[in-house]
Formats: sequence, C-alpha cells, structure tokens
Amino acid sequence: MYKTLIYEKSDNIGVLTVNRPDKLNALSNELTEELLQILDTVEKDVDLRVLVITGAGDKAFVAGADIKELVERDAVMGRDVSRSRQALFARIENLPVPVIAAVNGYALGGGLELALACNIRIASEKAQFGAPEVKLGIIPGDGGTQRLPRLVGLGRAMEMVLTGDFIDALEAHRIGLVNRVVPHEELMENVMALAKKIASRPPLAVQYAKEAVNRSQEGDTASGYELESYLHALACTTEDKTEGVAAFLEKRKGDFKGK
Ligand code: COA
Repeated sequence: MYKTLIYEKSDNIGVLTVNRPDKLNALSNELTEELLQILDTVEKDVDLRVLVITGAGDKAFVAGADIKELVERDAVMGRDVSRSRQALFARIENLPVPVIAAVNGYALGGGLELALACNIRIASEKAQFGAPEVKLGIIPGDGGTQRLPRLVGLGRAMEMVLTGDFIDALEAHRIGLVNRVVPHEELMENVMALAKKIASRPPLAVQYAKEAVNRSQEGDTASGYELESYLHALACTTEDKTEGVAAFLEKRKGDFKGK
C-alpha cells in the first residue's frame, strides 16, 4: 500500500496518481521512495502497454520538490537528491512502455521535470508550468536544465529557468512543451483515448519506436541511425509484424500479441 501514490490498472493501461493534494502533490522524500518502488513493479509488468501519470485533486500535477525538505538540504544532500531523482526520472523516460503526463494543474520545479520525463504531455487548460527554483536560490536538479531546452529551445528554456515565471497551458502549447490543451473536465478522457490508441498498436513496435526516438536526443546522429536500423530489423523478426502486414493486405484489423 502506498501513502503518497495511487496506482490503478485497467485494460493494460496503468494510471499513477501522485497523491498529496493538500500539499499540491509536492515531491517529498517519501513520495520519491514510493515512486521507486512502483517503478520496480511497472518495469516488470509485461502486460502493461501505457503508463499515465497525473496529480490528485483539482489544482496540481506536482508543485515541485517539498520545500520543507529544502531547509536541511546542504551540498552533499543536494547532490544525492539530485542524482537519485535524475535516475528516477530517467527510468520513467525510458520505461519500455510510453508514459503520458496528464497535467491537471501546476507543474512546477520537480513537477515540471517529471512532466518532461514523460514521453507525451497533455494539459488541462488550468495547467501552469514553471521552474521557480531560482527564486529559492537553487536551480533545477531533476533533469530540467537538460530536457527543457531540448523540448522548447534554448532561449525559451533559459527565460523560464532564469525568471522562475509560470506560463499557462496555451503558452506551453505554443512553445511545444505540451502536445495539446483540453478542457479541464475532459483531460482524463482525452489522455485515456490516446493511451488506448497507443495500447492497440503492436507493443514491441511501440517499444522499439520509443527507444529510437528517445535516443535521438542523445549522442551523435550516425549512432541514432544505426540504432534505428537495428531496432527496425528487430521489429521485422516479430510475429506482430507478420500479422500487421497481413492484416493490412487482407483489409482486416490486426490481432497483436506482443511477440
Ligand atoms: N512544497 C511543499 N509544500 C507545498 C509546495 C511545495 N513545493 N507547494 C505548495 N505547497 C503547500 C503549501 O505550503 C500549502 O500548504 P499549507 O496548506 O499547509 O500551508 C498547500 O500546499 C497549498 O498551497 P498554497 O501555496 O496555499 O496554494 P496557492 O494556490 O496559494 O499557491 C502555488 C499555489 C503553486 C503558486 C504555491 O503553492 C507555490 O508557489 N508553491 C511552490 C512552488 C515551487 O516553488 N516549487 C518548486 C520547489 S523547488
């Protein structure tokens, strides 16, 4: 049983809800520990097809690191917390299944960084995004300085990180930080529709495609092309590829097994 998380799974789609609504789902050490535990489960779940991450309550996705825990944070703790959350978020980014952030409110600091570690972001029109760390005399530590500029460009990321100002959902959409903005009440419906669509695709092809696209953000392009070729070749060995091609040619829906 988790104290700060709710995890539910139905139809091969997992929904992970960060559950500290009275503290706007701030990332405490306990919450980080529980996220690590749930990832152990999620990583081993061969039936899982998509993971959705959202925040409990009506106000926040995650409003950042728990500021109370910053009081005692010295340099050694700062490095340790940063390294462990970087590793945690990298695990989320690189899960075998796609991860969709359903951003239902404030995504600030570590909450923005969590959303950035997800592979796709859908925002409620009430969502707000910001990297306010600088206002507290610190800087992002959970991967934000690296992921944000890759997603929205150097200048825009720099402005957000240096000012700490929040941007609303429409601006986040305009700069490419989120894939789309939907009415608040329809957020989960939209996210689940996308999750179901991805879950209906051949799972191994989805996994390899995610890996190849993720790799485009690291290393050199030649290695990226190389990996793409190998993953493409690997996809060609799957039963689902035989089924997918046959289904198209026979004008029927494919029946995919993840093999
Ligand atoms: N850490 C710990 N507690 C937090 C928190 C955080 N990052 N963000 C919000 N909370 C708590 C508040 O302290 C408050 O708790 P209380 O009721 O016990 O006093 C509760 O959540 C509600 O927040 P509140 O500030 O009253 O809501 P608001 O609507 O007035 O303001 C925000 C919302 C998001 C603008 C404001 O909470 C905020 O600026 N939070 C900090 C964001 C931040 O700097 N994050 C990065 C940290 S590195």
